[in-house]
Amino acid sequence: MNDMTQSGDRLVVVSNRLPVVVKQVDGQWTFIPGSGGLVSALAPVLRNRGGIWIGWPGTSDADPATLSGLLREATRHSGYSLKPVALDQRDKEDFYYGFANEVIWPLFHDLQSHCNFAPRYWDAYNRVNRRFADVIMQNTRPGDFIWIHDYHLMSVGQELRAQGIAARMGFFLHIPFPPLDIYMKLPWRFPLLRALLEYDLLGFQTLRDRRNFLQCVRLIAPDLSVSGKGQVITIRVGNRELRVGTFPIGIDYQEFARGSKAEAVVRKARELHEDLPGRQVLLGVDRLDYTKGICHRFEAFRNALQRFPELHHRTTLIQVVVPSREDIPKYNALKMEMERLVGEINGQFTQSGWVPIHYIFRSLSRTELLAYYRACEIALITPLKDGMNLVAKEFCAATPENNSVLILSEFAGAAAQLQKGALLVNPYNVEEVAETIQRAIIMGPGERRARMHKLKRFVREYDIFWWVDSFLRAAIAKDLSNFPVPEE
Ligand code: G6P
Repeated sequence: MNDMTQSGDRLVVVSNRLPVVVKQVDGQWTFIPGSGGLVSALAPVLRNRGGIWIGWPGTSDADPATLSGLLREATRHSGYSLKPVALDQRDKEDFYYGFANEVIWPLFHDLQSHCNFAPRYWDAYNRVNRRFADVIMQNTRPGDFIWIHDYHLMSVGQELRAQGIAARMGFFLHIPFPPLDIYMKLPWRFPLLRALLEYDLLGFQTLRDRRNFLQCVRLIAPDLSVSGKGQVITIRVGNRELRVGTFPIGIDYQEFARGSKAEAVVRKARELHEDLPGRQVLLGVDRLDYTKGICHRFEAFRNALQRFPELHHRTTLIQVVVPSREDIPKYNALKMEMERLVGEINGQFTQSGWVPIHYIFRSLSRTELLAYYRACEIALITPLKDGMNLVAKEFCAATPENNSVLILSEFAGAAAQLQKGALLVNPYNVEEVAETIQRAIIMGPGERRARMHKLKRFVREYDIFWWVDSFLRAAIAKDLSNFPVPEE
């Protein structure tokens, strides 16, 4: 626990989504508490300090009275206060689907050809960011620390400054920050950078993201000066001074390690294995998203089956895709393309008793997810670009036997920390990925164990609690020399 965790300063967490989802089940409005690493790491801090979480409850349809009743109940349940920001249908379309997910999401993942730079999206972004700022202003007092999360809310800090906020503000970007040449495509590149410079602390996932950001800032601020060289540095732009750090996000390692040993998980993992006798099972688990490289992965698997016929009957790829953002045309097109490819590859190779790709399109229960992590020998995690990729870390934590292999894209933020234990690949190079699949399959137990030990050390040491703690310490520390760059 750090000084800030223990002090009387309240923490105000702000993210696009609240840590509960409000939805209708059998015609009745209800709330479902969020799980996820971020919620479990922040909840104790919020409870200790009496904090607040501000965000969108995930629906635009519930009437205000029902919504506030549900959030009062959710507040009692979680032990800290939940405050909603309302988004109407137009906000959902132009701010959430539009600016957040059709502009920033593809651009920051280096996929500018997927961008739709509709001018009305920028207006909606500013309008909704202002609305978040209004709700924050109504719910904060001097001395609070306001921690804003992710690409939906980059301009909230600027809106707060315009309203004369007295509290300190930090921002963490969960997704990558793109290189200069890509960032420059954004029609609103300069106002957005200026908005980011209004925070007191800015956090990125990796050193590369921070470097990219600083290169962009230099463009609008040739007078930029940088001091310090550790995990957190100080920059001065004009008369503003702020801290900029790298904070690779982690998971609740112990929770995954413990969970993977639960009886129900062990039983389910055994059943999965018995259904696939004599196979080495490869696993992919992703939200439906074109950044995850799922089609490239299928092509790489096809390439492996073509070039290494000894893999037939000996290996199966289980690909889990969790539905997401399906109202956006690119996501829907991706779903159709994935399903076409699975059909084509299975049609090409299936033989009696062996189907090469098992494709699952739904959310898994926690027990199922852990059982898949346990049952599969090789994780195939090949995003074209990813802020961090927590599936890679979860897989390592949930493999008690240390007999598994992690194949990981070099473009996942996690690659910086996990490069010594994982087999790194360029996801665009299907031949290289195919050869790496073959290499993983024949890798002996000694090398597997040695690699998994290295992976686990990082995942355990730099867990989600380290992440929260180091961000909050960076916000208040007098001396930044105690922030060595996280090991890579
Ligand atoms: C990424 C983003 C999160 C986002 C999540 C799910 O991990 O960094 O901010 O919440 O995707 O996406 P959704 O659009 O459903 O919130």
